[in-house]
Amino acid sequence: MSLEQLLASIPPGSHDETLARQVNFEQLPAHVAIIMDGNGRWAAQRHLPRVEGHRAGIDSVRDVVETSARLGIEVLTLYAFSVENWKRPRAEVNTLMMLLKRYIRLELSTLLKNNIQFRVIGRAEELSPDVQHELELGIRQTATNTGMQFNIALNYGGRAEIVDAARRAIAAGVAADDLDERRFSDFLYTAGQPDPDLLIRTSGEMRVSNFLLWQIAYAEIWVTETLWPDFRRRDLLEAVVAYQKRDRRYGGIKPSPVALGAK
Ligand code: IPE
Ligand code: IPE
Ligand code: MG
Repeated sequence: MSLEQLLASIPPGSHDETLARQVNFEQLPAHVAIIMDGNGRWAAQRHLPRVEGHRAGIDSVRDVVETSARLGIEVLTLYAFSVENWKRPRAEVNTLMMLLKRYIRLELSTLLKNNIQFRVIGRAEELSPDVQHELELGIRQTATNTGMQFNIALNYGGRAEIVDAARRAIAAGVAADDLDERRFSDFLYTAGQPDPDLLIRTSGEMRVSNFLLWQIAYAEIWVTETLWPDFRRRDLLEAVVAYQKRDRRYGGIKPSPVALGAK
């Protein structure tokens, strides 16, 4: 994509425009992964039930998906529901699932319009049949899109993913001697996709909460105090601009520009 395409959706003279002009389009992170956190706190600040935070968070998802596609990000992964989130009250889990179904139904046309390929990473087969049905519709209808790959991490756990990959490698009959990091990564949910260059977490928490454990080995981490329902295009642009100022070394001694990131 280009600055012009991004600017087409930004009000002239706004702070977002200033930020957009700071982005180096030659050094974009290929994969941005986001831990969307802080919905409950956002609601609590307003004396609202937690689910209102989840509801409000949908607007942030919409904004970030569209901005990422316009920027020209290759892969965007959003952490929506972890394998640990089943510990939450049944009513909250049900509302999250309902919101997810509604999001896909309402946003499918936007995903199609923006040439976005929708995918799910996680143990989707453990989700309820109605949720699975909605997800499959979204996946099938966007399967031939060639633009940004949008992964939604649902019933996702980084350790579960590594266990699943090991099982698949064994089932595929991979010999122990043939197994190396490259081969192993072909059995991950993200097979064929670049590893995240930039990992964003909202609401100030300094932890990875079982997200993409294998893939974030050398991701640059950016944490913001902003709560997820308040996260918008400007926050994403700020993260990208900050990322582009980092020196990535991959264990070496010479700082390498982000664009030359090791694969
Ligand atoms: C993130 O917000 C949404 C999900 C984990 C589904 P939280 O619900 O974790 O909000 P906080 O962390 O309690 O504020
Ligand atoms: C991480 O947020 C999971 C998602 C964003 C889906 P949590 O709120 O579940 O993480 P912890 O419990 O604070 O580590
Ligand atoms: Mg949380």
